[in-house]
Amino acid sequence: MLDRTDNSLQYCGKMQKGDKMETLETIHNRRSIRKYSKEPVSDEQIEKILRAGMMAPSAGNQQPWQFIVIKDRDKLKEISERHPYALMAKDAQVGIIVCGDLVLESKHKGFWVQDCSACTQNILLAIHDIGLGGVWISSYPVESRMKIFADVCNLPDHVIPLAFIPIGYPAQEIKAVDRFKKERIHKEVFK
Ligand SMILES: Cc1cc2nc3c(=O)[nH]c(=O)nc-3n(C[C@H](O)[C@H](O)[C@H](O)COP(=O)(O)O)c2cc1C
Repeated sequence: MLDRTDNSLQYCGKMQKGDKMETLETIHNRRSIRKYSKEPVSDEQIEKILRAGMMAPSAGNQQPWQFIVIKDRDKLKEISERHPYALMAKDAQVGIIVCGDLVLESKHKGFWVQDCSACTQNILLAIHDIGLGGVWISSYPVESRMKIFADVCNLPDHVIPLAFIPIGYPAQEIKAVDRFKKERIHKEVFK
C-alpha cells in the first residue's frame, strides 16, 4: 500500500493516516449498499465525499454540478415513499443529490450529464473507500423521479437532479463480483 501521508504526496482532500489509495481495489469491491446502520455520518466524511465528487473530469473543466445534502429525516422519508426504487432512503444517515446546473454550462452545452455522472461515480467510490455504503438512485431522465427531488429540495428549473445517493454505514455485506466479458472487447474493428 502506498503511504501518501508524507508531505511530498499529500493531496488537497486532507489525506489522513490509514486512508487507502488502492484505486483498483476500491473499484472492484464497491457494490450498491441499500441497508444502513444507525451510526451517524460526520460532516467531515460528507466533505471528503463531496471533495472526491468535485475532482471528477468534466467537459472543458466546466464543473456544472451542484449538490444538495439531505439529513432531514422527513425529507429522506418523503423520497423513500414517493420514489419507486428508493425505499432505503428512509434509513440513510444522509443523502446527496447530484445536480447539473444549466447556468454553469458554458461552452460545452449538453455535457452536464456525463460530467455529473463522472462526479457521481467518484462519490460512490469515495463512500466505499471510507467504509461507508451508498447506491446510485435514478433521477434524470425520468421526469416523475426528477420532480420528487425538485419538490423536496426546492430546486430551480435550471438545476436538474441527475442522481440521488443515500449514504450510511453498511448493515449488509455484498460480495465483489467479476463482470469482465472478453467478448465485449473488439480489436481494431467491431466483430
Ligand atoms: C443510472 C443508474 C440508476 C440506478 N437507479 C437505481 C435505483 O433507482 N434504485 C436502486 O436501488 N438502484 C439503482 N441503481 C443501482 C444499480 O441497480 C446497481 O448499480 C447495479 O445493479 C449493479 O450493482 P452494484 O452497484 O452493486 O455493482 C442505479 C444505477 C445506475 C448507474
